[in-house]
Amino acid sequence: MSKPSSGPLELFDHTSTRATARVHELRAQIERHNRLYYEHAAPEISDYEFDGLLRELVSLEKAHPELASKDSPTRRVGGKPLEEFAPATHIVPMQSLDNTYSPEELREFVTRVHKLAEDRSIHFTVEPKVDGVAISLLYEDGRLVRAATRGDGVTGDDVTQNVLTISNIPHKLQGDPPEQIEIRGEVYLPKTIFARLNAERDEEGLPPFANPRNAAAGSIKQLDPAITASRKLAAVFYGTGIWTGDQPATGREMFAKLQKWGLPISEKILEGSDEGSVNAAVQEMGELRHEFAYETDGAVVKLDSLALRREFGSTAKAPRWAIAYKYEPERAETKLLDITIQVGRTGTLTPVAELQPVFVSGSTVSRATLHNEEEIQRKDIRIGDTVLIEKAGEVIPAVVEAKKELRNGSERVFVMPECCPSCGAAVSKLGVAWKCTNPSCGAQMRRRIEHFASKQAMDIEGLGEALVAQLVESRLLNGISDIYTLDRESLLNLDRMGEKSASNLLAAIEESRSRPLWRLLNGLGIPHVGVTSARDLANRFHTLDALASATEEKLLTIHSIGEIMATAINAWFQSPENRTLMESLRSVGLNFGESDSPTAPTDQRLIGSTWVLTGTLSISREEAAEAIRRLGGKVTGSVSKKTTHLLAGDEAGSKLDKARELGVPVLDEAAFREICG
Ligand code: IVH
Repeated sequence: MSKPSSGPLELFDHTSTRATARVHELRAQIERHNRLYYEHAAPEISDYEFDGLLRELVSLEKAHPELASKDSPTRRVGGKPLEEFAPATHIVPMQSLDNTYSPEELREFVTRVHKLAEDRSIHFTVEPKVDGVAISLLYEDGRLVRAATRGDGVTGDDVTQNVLTISNIPHKLQGDPPEQIEIRGEVYLPKTIFARLNAERDEEGLPPFANPRNAAAGSIKQLDPAITASRKLAAVFYGTGIWTGDQPATGREMFAKLQKWGLPISEKILEGSDEGSVNAAVQEMGELRHEFAYETDGAVVKLDSLALRREFGSTAKAPRWAIAYKYEPERAETKLLDITIQVGRTGTLTPVAELQPVFVSGSTVSRATLHNEEEIQRKDIRIGDTVLIEKAGEVIPAVVEAKKELRNGSERVFVMPECCPSCGAAVSKLGVAWKCTNPSCGAQMRRRIEHFASKQAMDIEGLGEALVAQLVESRLLNGISDIYTLDRESLLNLDRMGEKSASNLLAAIEESRSRPLWRLLNGLGIPHVGVTSARDLANRFHTLDALASATEEKLLTIHSIGEIMATAINAWFQSPENRTLMESLRSVGLNFGESDSPTAPTDQRLIGSTWVLTGTLSISREEAAEAIRRLGGKVTGSVSKKTTHLLAGDEAGSKLDKARELGVPVLDEAAFREICG
């Protein structure tokens, strides 16, 4: 090779080497973040930062066409399918969208589409860009036969079993659906459920989900459908893939069809025809989006005519007839005044950021959970820092980062207290969480009472956080069972307590005595036991006493109970404090259940079996799964060494092959009916 010469050539070489290095670096970074996002549902950077990297790569590839590569992430969508689920190839590949944060580029898009349309008149729809997990449902003759994640756009994961547990996804379409249709949309975790889920994860010492999208992705990729079901996912649909027979003429007509078939669509679909009206609709969507149950990160502008969509086609990555306009994340800067500690009902010490009040996404924020000590260390957040605040999932105030460049040296590193700030007892570490070790800690007691009275548990209206604090303070409540010894006279002695509120509260308390057993079970606050497992436990054991004396082995026969939960339940009932609590609740007359419940399932003939369902059955897969679970069996999504039975309907595919390969017994529907009666 010749020595590099001086002059312009050297300059050119130099620039190009730098560009090459940067392109490789960006591609590697983007690939890595893609994997974290799509395959592990655990992103390390925000969508906004990711889009920044992608844009830089796009513009470098444009400026240096010699560096373009067909393997570049600028030409591909998303991640590779997960290993554990069976692969599912989409009949029509799932594309992604070009996106922009700039009103100028949005205008350019509208102009470009008008140009392509020449002098034909065109309309656009403006829809929310739902920030969930993309999903494609395949319906054949109106029956849901497969649900798949996007994966790399061509092949995704078969997540049918999990999707069947999502309550607003119909297993059968109403009306006159086509023979074969792929319906595209997003699975999401409602914002309110996200807030609750993260609070529970803090309490249990688990790392929080960064946003509802991650929580939804984590949920849909749980291999156990029972876990998916307990997360309360929902879905919304906005497009189609394959569609046999007559197709509608416009996107709006397609939405009307989806709705007629019983599929949920977005509650707001706006319209526009030129730059001005499209821009106005995008701005309006920006206001409306906070009211939606799902998190949104933008608006999708689509040409309405399906014939023109076909005519204009796509680039390597995205259609020419649509664009996603992304809203800048709503963030605010403020001062971190202090970090205080909140003690949860199981004793978890959660650090809380005390902030100089600041307005963000529609409300004033003065506190934000910092989740746990490791989170503070990872983000290097110090007391006195200027911090960036946003609302995770548009609901939970969160500290995004500390502005380290604004430090003046007076900032203090946070240190976790060595004893409980409420009762002074020693603390010990469990997972990422520090816990107060004193079960009679006052703060824990307050939280336990709040949880016991909450909507998800004994549902005692009026007994919320403020009143519980007041009652504990005035020593009227020293534990859960004291709720049932409250009387009118002592209530009336409290500040701000009138006749009417006192009577209402006493009536609500009275009413709660006969609540079903599962509510009491949830209310007791047994670690890891939530609504779903409380219901399952009540269904299986019928009485609190039967549950209290159940062995771990017996607990493990319940579908939604794993080893950690079984151990926790056992330990809870063995603790003398909890035994005393049980006896005092019995003596105040709470419903502990009845042993001869007529609806109780007694037949557990499938205990110990693990089933996978595949192909088309005459009943829905969920009905078949229910029947198996009722008889004590487990249902999972993919065939493995643990599978004991494969129920194969018509046109069973790869799962049947895998079962044969592993020597798993295969049953047809007739044999299944025989076994299950
Ligand atoms: S249309 C070919 N409409 O955003 C058109 N996508 O960043 C494909 N998304 O891949 C999609 N809301 O997963 C469309 N109203 C909406 C959407 C939407 C969310 C997702 C979808 C897409 C991604 C692109």
